[in-house]
Amino acid sequence: MEQQVLLSELATDTLKGLSSNPKYLLSKYFYDDAGSAIFQEIMNMPEYYLTDCEHEIFSNQKEEITQAICPEKKLFNLVELGSGDGLKTKILLKHLVDEGIHFQYTPVDISAKANHELVQSLKKELPNLQVEAQTGDYFQKLKNLQGHASIQKIILFLGSNIGNFSVDETTEFLSRLSAYSNVGDKVLIGFDLKKSPAIIMEAYNDPHGHTSRFNLNHLVRLNRELDANFDIQKFEHQTTYNPRSGEVKSFLISNSDQTVQIGTLEKTFRFTKWEAIFMERSRKYDIKTIEELALYHHFKVVQNFTDQRNYFVDSLWEKI
Ligand code: AVI
Repeated sequence: MEQQVLLSELATDTLKGLSSNPKYLLSKYFYDDAGSAIFQEIMNMPEYYLTDCEHEIFSNQKEEITQAICPEKKLFNLVELGSGDGLKTKILLKHLVDEGIHFQYTPVDISAKANHELVQSLKKELPNLQVEAQTGDYFQKLKNLQGHASIQKIILFLGSNIGNFSVDETTEFLSRLSAYSNVGDKVLIGFDLKKSPAIIMEAYNDPHGHTSRFNLNHLVRLNRELDANFDIQKFEHQTTYNPRSGEVKSFLISNSDQTVQIGTLEKTFRFTKWEAIFMERSRKYDIKTIEELALYHHFKVVQNFTDQRNYFVDSLWEKI
């Protein structure tokens, strides 16, 4: 009898992506420890305006955000999907605690390490905050929380993470977010806005080489975790921006005819000279599209919080 080998999710997705025409890899696998560290370097680049914009929104408008999310100051559960290091959220958390508002903070992240570090830092910085970190799948955790319908949920999904989804993935994500929200629950979502293509290209077209390393690290990960033999010198990083769709797209391009072996898959993959692997999309939005998305998914837009340059918006929606 033929023996069935159970492949990991990374292995299955890699097999699917590299067997497709055109080839692709999934950007969710960028974030191993090395990739997360490179992403920190990207966020620290002056050209990567997204982090500064959202930081500015939280710093300058924390009073207005507080008033909009909990005008009646009733008990609520602040749930953050993909909390990471919680840097921007801490500005809001500190303000809510200082104002004596009653709430619980529930950071949800797939990384147990990120959750642990966040909880430890919150214990020091905000010892009176009630925190209940959850590690695992966003929607599994939201489903569990839906049982407590009497407590309003405010769900944060910050940092333009939604921009990394395809149109279908965005629809699926917002449909599920809507399904697991009760009437009156609110969501605050960070969207990067359309702006001069020159500014967007500066942020993604790699003035310091970090974005290239971020993409190539995916291949390094496949070498390590799937016993592959990618020669990273033989791939070049390239970014494009389409101002009509608002999509930044990232590619790794093979600079020679080559064959790569992936031991775990017991397969080889051929790359022709200048063949591109699609690595990531980062979609930029306009306010009209954001409002249409909200309505389509049974939310009303309560308020849009933008930075002074109108580069980024944290859009607050309420389930209707
Ligand atoms: C995580 N995500 C919102 C980032 C973005 O801007 O799309 C990932 C990134 N990719 C290249 N630079 C930053």
